[in-house]
Amino acid sequence: MMIKKLALFLFFLVFSGLLLAQEPNGDASAEKKVFIDNLLSKMTLQEKVGQLRLVSVGGDLTLNKVLDQIQAGEIGGIFNTVVEPDLSQMQERALKSPNKIPLFLGFDVIHGHRTVFPINLGIASTWDRSAIAKAAEVSADEATSDGLNITWAPMVDITRDPRWGRVSEGFGEDPYLTSEAGRIFVEKMQKQSLADKKSLVTSVKHFALYGAVEGGREYNSTDMSERKMFQEYLVPYKAAIDAGSRVVMVSLVSVNGIPATANHWLLTEVLRNQWHFDGVVVSDHGAIRELINHGVASDPKDAVRVAIKAGIDISMNDEYFLQFVPELVKEGAISEDEINQACRHVLELKYDMGLFSDPYRNLDPKLDIETMFANDRLHRKEARDVARRSIVLLKNNDEILPLTKNKKIAIVGPLADSQRDILGSWSGAGRVNLAVTPLEGIKRAVNNSNSVSYAFGANLSDDANLYRFLNLYGETSKFDNRPADKMITEAVKIAKKADVVIAFVGEAEGMAHESSSRTDLSLPATQKQLLKALKKTGKPLVIVLMNGRPLTLSEEYAQADAMLETWFLGTEGGNAIADVLFGDYNPSGKLPMSFPYNVGQIPVYYSHLNTGRPRGTENMGKYTTSYFDSPNEPLFPFGFGLSYTNFAMDFSLSSSEMNKNGEIIVKVNVENIGNKEGMQTVQLYLQDVTASVSRPVKELIGFENISLKPHEKGEVEFVIKYDMLKFWNDKMQYVAEPGKFNVFIGSDSTTQNKQTFTLLD
Ligand code: NOJ
Repeated sequence: MMIKKLALFLFFLVFSGLLLAQEPNGDASAEKKVFIDNLLSKMTLQEKVGQLRLVSVGGDLTLNKVLDQIQAGEIGGIFNTVVEPDLSQMQERALKSPNKIPLFLGFDVIHGHRTVFPINLGIASTWDRSAIAKAAEVSADEATSDGLNITWAPMVDITRDPRWGRVSEGFGEDPYLTSEAGRIFVEKMQKQSLADKKSLVTSVKHFALYGAVEGGREYNSTDMSERKMFQEYLVPYKAAIDAGSRVVMVSLVSVNGIPATANHWLLTEVLRNQWHFDGVVVSDHGAIRELINHGVASDPKDAVRVAIKAGIDISMNDEYFLQFVPELVKEGAISEDEINQACRHVLELKYDMGLFSDPYRNLDPKLDIETMFANDRLHRKEARDVARRSIVLLKNNDEILPLTKNKKIAIVGPLADSQRDILGSWSGAGRVNLAVTPLEGIKRAVNNSNSVSYAFGANLSDDANLYRFLNLYGETSKFDNRPADKMITEAVKIAKKADVVIAFVGEAEGMAHESSSRTDLSLPATQKQLLKALKKTGKPLVIVLMNGRPLTLSEEYAQADAMLETWFLGTEGGNAIADVLFGDYNPSGKLPMSFPYNVGQIPVYYSHLNTGRPRGTENMGKYTTSYFDSPNEPLFPFGFGLSYTNFAMDFSLSSSEMNKNGEIIVKVNVENIGNKEGMQTVQLYLQDVTASVSRPVKELIGFENISLKPHEKGEVEFVIKYDMLKFWNDKMQYVAEPGKFNVFIGSDSTTQNKQTFTLLD
């Protein structure tokens, strides 16, 4: 018997040794397991539940109450505090808790932190991996300098409905572009190792399909075929997880009838079992309580049970875990093992972050402020560079842009001089007083304030309620009490004396945020009146748009001599706009989302399926897929953006056939055929012509940038591999099917520049 036991023990030793040896970091992970097992064995159920609670100071929960709960071991992480002394104090109290488990310190670092970068729709408009990387790197650098160690980003919800206010936070309509941006955010924020002092843990969100809410109405339901989910909408979350995102934040909405927070299929079968995600799953703000409204839980206690059973680890803004989890365990409705497992996910993350050995990392107030200011100059330079790359030139009649600096310029509009608005939504830690407005940027650029005149021109809207609604950070956009016609007259007066008028119009930052859905995507009437009056002066009119979503702009497009989409560009926005207006930077941005002609076209996106009756041109397209009162296509397509120069492109494929192990090289010749240096984004699209399921008319599968001097030629190369041809077939298997493929190269998604190859059996 004894010998048998010994043999078993030896077998176990050898076997476990083999297992460990297979892992590169076998010793370290064994050490981690021992550490966490040991910790878990000492923790009471109450303390384990504490690790699953994320709270923020506010309302009834005063700082003192939070500190007491931390010390009692009842809180695992806090968020929304960015004041260093409070953070230090909180960590200090955590180290006095029974098992001295340090806290996560979280904040929404969405597009910059103290130095604000363009909103993410703007960052995506760069189509430039290095620009996306810079934005993510600087954000993490500043947030960690502030003592934070975790963020709720990137948001990679695919967004095809501009009525939804949160399109501003995402990277647009396309799975590939969004995946690339999400991947880069994760890599650059988390860094190689979570133990790196400058690593900021990412939480990819909102899992899943938040961007597909019905009617674009905030918090509404989503319903979608599994094919579309796996083929398009789930792709970016998966990309961020594959890049290593250690946290996933769950969406507030229901997915095919089951709220994501209660959705076992989504959180356990897909996320854990199919994708092997072993990090932390956090619910969104208030999501547990909302399960009662969703109608899948009868009361708060039931809501806790449903959420944990589905796969939630951490409750954000927790109200109920501490109260009900111990009871539910006692009653056997959930097992202690389930709580242990959730707690293990949290402790493993804290361990990998190095928090147990360095809980005060970046919490030295002297050091942090110094680092921040030392980096300030550099960060602002980088913010300016990313901002100008985010600007999209939509129109430029008669090459009115770039402007020469000796012109008399009239600057008009409610967004010309607003420091708050240019930072965009989710910029709570941004330093408003450092933001450069367009008025300031232009004055600096021309170096002669006498040649620049300014008039406010119009309120953003005359709806006073809207102003109250827009209050995001305790400040609203500027509202001028004077009668509208007085403001317009003043603007017209300066316009008449100028050589060129630049009108800054669009949305207030709060109009494109969480809980800011719109049914009307046109400019508010006040601003339309202003533009009409300016147009009447006959002066050249440059319209500079500032907005967080695609708007319907047919009228403005017709009025403008030149038009720029600048989104909300962040701290250096005004300088970046001046760089582009005066040609110090040749615009290179491309739209990451289609701009509809009208709301009735929504959703309008480039990668739609063909129909049995593609739109015909005759007889108003009768009996073909069409509207009789509107085009099918958007006003500005995905991928569109002009430059101050022009480019010609042609391309060839290395072969007209490909087999399973082969690849096709796509060689693109690009020539700058204009007179200015510029950058072009070469876009590669693919169409699977015949398959077991209908495939989109085009899908983006690659993009590269090339900078060329006037008349210079260059080459861009792409490689199409077998895996890039895969899709979810009629049996929901992820495969490539033999047959014909079209390859498109172009400067936007409407390109018809096409070559063909065949995938052999
Ligand atoms: C709710 C939002 O949906 C989410 O994106 C955000 O991270 C949390 N609030 C925390 O602020």
